[in-house]
Amino acid sequence: MNVLAISNQKGGVGKTTSVSAVADLLSSKGKRVVMIDLDPQANLSKGLGLEAPSHTIQGVLFDEYPIEEAVVAINDNLLLVPCTKALANFEIEMLNEIGREYILKNKLVSLKDQCDYIILDSPPSLGLLTINALSAANSVYVPIHAQKYSLDGLQEVLETINKVKEFINPDLQFKGAYFNQYDSRKLLTRALTDEVKDMIGEELLLKTFIRVNVALQEAPTLGKSIFEYAPDSNGAKDFSKLTEEIMLRN
Ligand SMILES: Nc1ncnc2c1ncn2[C@@H]1O[C@H](COP(=O)(O)OP(=O)(O)OP(=O)(O)O)[C@@H](O)[C@H]1O
Ligand SMILES: [Mg+2]
Repeated sequence: MNVLAISNQKGGVGKTTSVSAVADLLSSKGKRVVMIDLDPQANLSKGLGLEAPSHTIQGVLFDEYPIEEAVVAINDNLLLVPCTKALANFEIEMLNEIGREYILKNKLVSLKDQCDYIILDSPPSLGLLTINALSAANSVYVPIHAQKYSLDGLQEVLETINKVKEFINPDLQFKGAYFNQYDSRKLLTRALTDEVKDMIGEELLLKTFIRVNVALQEAPTLGKSIFEYAPDSNGAKDFSKLTEEIMLRN
């Protein structure tokens, strides 16, 4: 059983796109995968056609019903626990709760025998929802948007991962970072690659670079996965490679 978190407190780097594509691909390889939408923007849920789900992860976290009741089947092997913007209340209401970092982890226990992977989408912040994701995960991957200033804040997410590992979840492993929206023709992106290698070490920068590809933007607006919408696109090819790399590392 693998619990993967895709995290970066920077917005728009490709967390949700990655969760959706990697989960879809793993499920098509016969793995049973549960995605959990932990971002109150609910982009993952909406992109999969769940605009107003009756049962959500916030209902589970607030102890209103068991997680099994909030699981929605996207296809035979792919499941989603959706959210709505009301998930934002979690960070406010649980602020002083004892054991607040472990709430999600405890809720996932009953799912663990029922699936091969749980993949957690996180919001663009290092608040309590991201901490809950890192506390429940055994692996974390960090997408980096290949543009100027994109490394601002990378150190911060790495420090947070280390602190969670030290104080909350010793099982957490930082498995690597990867570039998204990469354009190899740009000198800037080559310089960024060197900088990241210096920061995290060459072996923790994944070999896959996700190129800019509009099909990745279009697919969720139609409620489709990239592999259904544009199976021959660069987006589909790059995420297939990324998923292979992730499977090797997990
Ligand atoms: N490789 C790519 N090529 C083109 N567009 C992309 C690519 N990856 C992501 N996008 C688009 O960039 C935007 C941000 O991506 P995404 O929502 O996955 O990022 P995020 O990190 O989840 O954002 P947030 O922090 O707001 O949750 C989306 O519109 C998405 O469709
Ligand atoms: Mg997102």
